[in-house]
Amino acid sequence: MAISILVASSDEHFRESVRENLLNVPNSRLVAEYPEVASNLYIRVLQDIERNPDCGLILDLASDPTENLRIMEKVKQAAPHLYIIASNYSAEGELVIDSLRAGANDFITQPVRRLDFRDAMARFERAPKHTTAMQSRLGKVYTFIGTKGGVGTTTLAVNFASVLAQRKHNAVMLDLDWVANDVCMQIGAQPQYTLLEVGENLGRLDQQLFEGFVTRDPLGFFVVGPPDSLENHGYFTEPMFRDFGNFLVEKYDSVVIDAGRRVSDELVMGAMQVSTTVFLVLTQEFGAVRNAQRYLAYLMRMGFNQDQVKLVLNRYDKNAGSDLASLDQIQQTLNQKVFYGIPRSPEVLRAINRARPFVVNREAAPDLDKAFRAFVDKAGGVKKQLAESA
Ligand SMILES: Nc1ncnc2c1ncn2[C@@H]1O[C@H](COP(=O)(O)OP(=O)(O)O)[C@@H](O)[C@H]1O
Ligand SMILES: [Mg+2]
Repeated sequence: MAISILVASSDEHFRESVRENLLNVPNSRLVAEYPEVASNLYIRVLQDIERNPDCGLILDLASDPTENLRIMEKVKQAAPHLYIIASNYSAEGELVIDSLRAGANDFITQPVRRLDFRDAMARFERAPKHTTAMQSRLGKVYTFIGTKGGVGTTTLAVNFASVLAQRKHNAVMLDLDWVANDVCMQIGAQPQYTLLEVGENLGRLDQQLFEGFVTRDPLGFFVVGPPDSLENHGYFTEPMFRDFGNFLVEKYDSVVIDAGRRVSDELVMGAMQVSTTVFLVLTQEFGAVRNAQRYLAYLMRMGFNQDQVKLVLNRYDKNAGSDLASLDQIQQTLNQKVFYGIPRSPEVLRAINRARPFVVNREAAPDLDKAFRAFVDKAGGVKKQLAESA
């Protein structure tokens, strides 16, 4: 039987030793490495085990045993069937018992000895498996990131959130593009409060407070973004996003993020790490394709995998001339299938000028509307649970 492992540790050597040890275990593979044991670990683990239900997690307690045990407990609560192997330098009785109480199924001592590791893997292999895909009770996070300015990142994110809201999803849309701040422009919102107030109130944030001060679109989704004035950059950091992200996925069905195009920004990286799916938005322009290649390479180096990052080709025209890249050329260059192509339509700009998402006006451009909804279906495994109301 195959063994799939996730490993969480801030210690590069430890992760390396797990990688090396796995090489000696037949039919095994490392599904994901988390380079830190952070408070949002459970979200990342849940995203990964939804795709790989029979994974086990090796969790390194050493950097901060007390805190890491708390994190492990949270992972176990979120994924009760997950097989967890805790690890630390010492195997003192107290610590081992505490790890078992926090939900560990097994324990290995560091430095990891090859025989111990193999035995641990054998025990994991014998443990009962829950191979039915675990549907997480946490909300899904969809992050849109553009490989160039103007490729349609905001447009796609806004309309994605709109379709989810039309389908009665309890959705939140975040604008993390500090310079453009275009989400509000596209939906005609004039918010009084921003992510800065979210940041200031994180300590006491609950659903009532949140919904009391963020804007609600007429379609039903909540929106919050940066301040509008460009000199007032304010203070909303990646660690703040972690707490906020935890809150959002626990309380809402879906979170849709317009991440702009700064793929290496810390905040954007934090958002992508907890995302069910990251949509890389590109067009057939060569510049966008070239950047998509750089973005993909970077994301793979940062530990993302191809199930998580999907290419969306916007303003797609099958019959584009030689000034633009063809679908085949794009797929060959990027060595990845394009997940979906959204057609070019003059209705998109008209909708932006009206300051309402194009999916609100379904008759204006039926082909665009149909293609876009099919994209949402494919993206979310979003069931058409309820009749859509436009
Ligand atoms: N599918 C499309 N067809 C036609 N025009 C589009 C399409 N998608 C986006 N656009 C146009 O591209 C412009 C930039 O879109 P925007 O969403 O602001 O891009 P980004 O957020 O990537 O900078 C907008 O004026 C919009 O009208
Ligand atoms: Mg934008």
